[in-house]
Amino acid sequence: MDSIDVIDIRNTSCVLPEESLRDEIVHGLAGNAVIHAVCEEGFPIVQWKKSIPTGQFLPSEDICFEGLTFLVQSDELAILDKYGWEIATLLAGPTNPVATLTSPQERLEEDNPGDLHLTVVDLGAGRLDKAECLLRSIDKETCRLGGLNRPAKISTTYCAVDIQYQELRARLCDLLRGNPIFSNGCHEDREGKIIVRGVCGSYLDSLDLLQNDGLTRDTLAFNNGQEKIMQRKCILWLGSSLTNMSLPQASIFLGRFATGVLRAGDTLLVGVDHCRDIKKVKAAYSEESDCWRAYVRNGVKNAGAILGGDAAAKMNGGSNWDYVTRWDTVNGRHMRFVRSRTRVSFEISSSSPCDRATATVEMEEGEYILIAQSYKHSLANVERCFQEAGLDILKRWTKDQSDCSLYLLGKERGI
Ligand SMILES: C[S@@+](CC[C@H](N)C(=O)[O-])C[C@H]1O[C@@H](n2cnc3c(N)ncnc32)[C@H](O)[C@@H]1O
Repeated sequence: MDSIDVIDIRNTSCVLPEESLRDEIVHGLAGNAVIHAVCEEGFPIVQWKKSIPTGQFLPSEDICFEGLTFLVQSDELAILDKYGWEIATLLAGPTNPVATLTSPQERLEEDNPGDLHLTVVDLGAGRLDKAECLLRSIDKETCRLGGLNRPAKISTTYCAVDIQYQELRARLCDLLRGNPIFSNGCHEDREGKIIVRGVCGSYLDSLDLLQNDGLTRDTLAFNNGQEKIMQRKCILWLGSSLTNMSLPQASIFLGRFATGVLRAGDTLLVGVDHCRDIKKVKAAYSEESDCWRAYVRNGVKNAGAILGGDAAAKMNGGSNWDYVTRWDTVNGRHMRFVRSRTRVSFEISSSSPCDRATATVEMEEGEYILIAQSYKHSLANVERCFQEAGLDILKRWTKDQSDCSLYLLGKERGI
């Protein structure tokens, strides 16, 4: 694959694709003045003031991803596999999906027999497997509706957003390789195919872009002067990323999409893990797991490599780095840390080529560094959070007795 359409929407002062991540790591390792603490009965107290962004903690080629028990990973995929057709019908069908909230009469009036362009924006796209599963259902539904001539013509663009530039490119290349239903956004030959684009940036970078109709109004269909094509978008926020936030944080985050991004007919598809069984949660992220240990050490190594220089040698992810977890009863969250067995100290230079300043990072022997957290919100609280964000639940799907739900959310009146 020679080139792939990946736009970089991160801070424009960045010189290299890795730079804004580097700033985030530097900021996290500088630590803040407040010392936090978590106390789990039967375990030593953990105190911390430094962190490494969760985005660094991705498997590398030599780590078996399947050995990592992300609670919702397989459940969300199973839901998409089973109900993908229903989601696709709602997203690509002639009736505005948000019209499921209105009366049958109003719904009929909202029916759109014209052409439709659907933009699927995948926030924190990661491995792309869930999106691929959903897009295959959308492709099938498009072909089925095409046969019925309703809507007249449907086209789809898939925009995978992630902060990890290299990983995103590699995964998009894999998706395109040997997959005839997809077409690289760079190429002209894409009639009838799902156009694939990469967007390297954070959730907030993409929020800014979407608020200004980026990713939807820069489509080929739009540029060809076919503005009359109905535009609909669906924003995917999967992998239970919502549970990395507290409920007030999640409600503010979703509220920004509800008020600034969702137009009439647009939707959000959000995956949430509700597991409140602490034993199960702790077992899923077990400190005893070789795979999890390898995974976090690899994350330390990634962060060191991005910092470069002395940091790459000191944060090498070797056996010096321990993986430690705690259940935080007070806040109802599972917390994951790394801890260096020895004192670590290194100099880091500024990201800006014009700035020669350096700073010293010091980690005490045994100091804890926060790497990830998962809140375990109850079903009722999650649904209240959607309500507070100004979002209506159009539909919820679950898998058998599992703790995972997929919610399709929308607003009765878009912006
Ligand atoms: C938990 S994984 C979810 C991956 C995939 N969506 C899934 O459901 O399997 C989180 C992904 O989001 C990315 N990510 C984490 N924080 C992000 C942020 N603030 N902005 C954009 N992407 C982020 C990470 O790089 C990672 O690929």
